[in-house]
Amino acid sequence: MDVIAEHKQLPSKDFEAAWDAIKVDASVKERLVAQAVLSLQMRQKFSFEQVPMHGLIIMSGPPGTGKTTLARGLADKIAKVVGKAQYVQLDAHALGSSSLGKSQKEVSKIFSQTIPELAMSMPAIVLLDEVETLAADRQRMSLEANPIDAHRATDAALAGIDLLCRKHRNTLLIATTNYPKAVDRALLSRADWIEDIGPPNAEARAEIILDVLALLGGQWPKLGLLKSQLAAFVKASEGMDGRRLRKAITSAAAISIETAKDPNKVTSKDVLDTLKRAASQADLEEAA
Ligand SMILES: Nc1ncnc2c1ncn2[C@@H]1O[C@H](COP(=O)(O)OP(=O)(O)OP(=O)(O)O)[C@@H](O)[C@H]1O
Ligand SMILES: [Mg+2]
Repeated sequence: MDVIAEHKQLPSKDFEAAWDAIKVDASVKERLVAQAVLSLQMRQKFSFEQVPMHGLIIMSGPPGTGKTTLARGLADKIAKVVGKAQYVQLDAHALGSSSLGKSQKEVSKIFSQTIPELAMSMPAIVLLDEVETLAADRQRMSLEANPIDAHRATDAALAGIDLLCRKHRNTLLIATTNYPKAVDRALLSRADWIEDIGPPNAEARAEIILDVLALLGGQWPKLGLLKSQLAAFVKASEGMDGRRLRKAITSAAAISIETAKDPNKVTSKDVLDTLKRAASQADLEEAA
């Protein structure tokens, strides 16, 4: 399996759309861009000993809150500020099973060879998605099948990040996790900034709902008109993550075969019923 899951030249239209699709407070987006740009700039000007910035941003939060999508959008934004850049997504799951003792070597190679080689031509923004796989918490490892190997893989990731941030200053790492407790504390401590992304608030939910209704309304105009019931939809979707909310609004059309065939027949009650069911499923999952 290839450890590079995706490699793309930025800026990119797709990534720009990803940034716009995620509804979070504007201050969160601004902070992320500013932090990334500052980090790149500081590391060009000062030594690590003077200004210890690792060029690592972590986005933490529950599943479906838009972390991965936002990370891709962020890469695009950064590219626009610095001119051009490339996006590299690593697949931590492809690093070989730690039971084969392969992980440690492969992790080292990524940070000492793969990323530096890519970053020779232009700044590289590297997404470490689900970073708990790459840098699992060493303190919790006693429960695992092969704690020694996993321990070494985390050591290698930390050493690799240290090497990268000192020697290759035109790289920036964005890591995501929905399980921060499983991430090694030494990695969290290396982050220049940790953004906790939570479920969308009422304002963000309203934007998501309007977004979906406008999109569907382009095909089925009567569905678009349901936006008059926005306030009720926002209330019914309290606590829901963005992924579930987008799905629920769309799934209202699956309330019957008839509405599935012709979504113009969806009523606001159908949407509310679907939202309520989706919200109770979310509660069940949380309790589990
Ligand atoms: N705040 C939000 N605003 C709008 N859409 C959202 C939001 N959060 C999630 N979504 C929708 O959910 C989809 C999935 O988001 P994404 O995969 O980025 O979440 P994630 O936080 O990385 O989840 P996981 O932890 O499960 O990997 C997005 O493509 C988007 O359609
Ligand atoms: Mg994700």
